Amino acid sequence: MMINPSNPCGSVYSKAHLTEIADFARKHGLTVLTDEIYHGLAYGEGTEFFPFAEVAPDIPVIKAGGISKIYGVPGWRLGWIIVYNRHGFLTDVKEGMLRATTIWLSPCSLIQAALPKILKEVGEDFHDAYKANLKKSSALVTELCSQIEGLNPIKGQGSMYMMV
Ligand SMILES: Cc1ncc(COP(=O)(O)O)c(C=O)c1O
Repeated sequence: MMINPSNPCGSVYSKAHLTEIADFARKHGLTVLTDEIYHGLAYGEGTEFFPFAEVAPDIPVIKAGGISKIYGVPGWRLGWIIVYNRHGFLTDVKEGMLRATTIWLSPCSLIQAALPKILKEVGEDFHDAYKANLKKSSALVTELCSQIEGLNPIKGQGSMYMMV
């Protein structure tokens, strides 16, 4: 299981690193669970986000996503799971997940109703400005932390976190 972009490190996996993970999973017949709730939130210089399921199109993947991070709405608690049921390995898992969703409490129905509009109408302008803002905040926090004796900040490449 991995989280990319990362909470808590603020790192973003390179395509080469994801390919190594894919090779390992392929070799050992593993399904990969990837929490990509920070999908696309990469702002480090030369850093790009690659969805794992696209890097490894032959491997069964369970991907988690949601709106709280990519639209900056923490607390709205609306997410999703995408099951890449390659080779049919995850059919029973998917069935189990569907059953589980009938017994768990769901997100607020108003937010569910708003989702199609959010996904269709919020454009690249919003995402670009949001990422630029995160990049600026990350640079500021890195700069401020580096002025404190004994702290060694590692600049974040994505998400909303960094290691110190
Ligand atoms: C890696 C990761 N996955 C999932 C979540 C859950 O997000 P939410 O409950 O806001 O949808 C968080 C929130 O911090 C997170 O960092």
